[in-house]
Amino acid sequence: MGDWESIFKKDGKVFLTAQEDMEKIIKLLKKEKVRKILDLGCGSGRHTVLFAKQGFDVYATDISKTGLKMTRKWLKEKNLCAKLKEHSCYEKFPFKDKRFDAIISTQVIHHNFHEKVKFCISEIERVLKPGGLIFITVAANKRKQGATAFMMSEPRTYTPLDGKEKGVPHFIYTKTLMKKDFKNFKILSICRDNGNHWCLLGRLKET
Ligand SMILES: C[S@@+](CC[C@H](N)C(=O)[O-])C[C@H]1O[C@@H](n2cnc3c(N)ncnc32)[C@H](O)[C@@H]1O
Repeated sequence: MGDWESIFKKDGKVFLTAQEDMEKIIKLLKKEKVRKILDLGCGSGRHTVLFAKQGFDVYATDISKTGLKMTRKWLKEKNLCAKLKEHSCYEKFPFKDKRFDAIISTQVIHHNFHEKVKFCISEIERVLKPGGLIFITVAANKRKQGATAFMMSEPRTYTPLDGKEKGVPHFIYTKTLMKKDFKNFKILSICRDNGNHWCLLGRLKET
């Protein structure tokens, strides 16, 4: 979907330092004795590398071949390993039920129309263990990546007509909608980061 592949090809890694909450999240994951983590939409690998360095058993997926290639190279440079797979988060995940202790996904799952985003959330629920943790960040605002013009393709879904993410639909969340779509999770916190994303920390309810 859209063109992170071109962005990575043109600009390289793009994200070099971890998302601002990641240090706190890693502390929590360690406290909870998390082992198997999925970095969903790993991009060029900033969090995959960080998690591998912290000793977690890391799986990472992304739709961008170039992103995955950069992640692989970054891991190799640091003498670390993780299992990488090319995959669209809007398709059935290539993992068995209840496979992961935690799933982290920063700035990924909102890159589509609402129905697709909700399917992705249902797959997150399927492959996460009951009681497992998520840290997911999604768009809270349409003004990003230097775009000046947008098309509203569906309610709450904006597609930039220029800028780096030209042509990529973004589903824009409200806090209320986050709570609704993540109703199967106990919400531990929801806050806004500096890049205008909602950051949701949650735990899958045991049914
Ligand atoms: C803003 S980047 C964030 C990358 C990474 N999570 C990070 O924080 O560094 C968005 C990522 O979403 C990925 N992406 C977009 N559509 C996707 C899809 N359908 N399936 C998986 N990844 C997708 C892009 O390839 C890109 O790596």
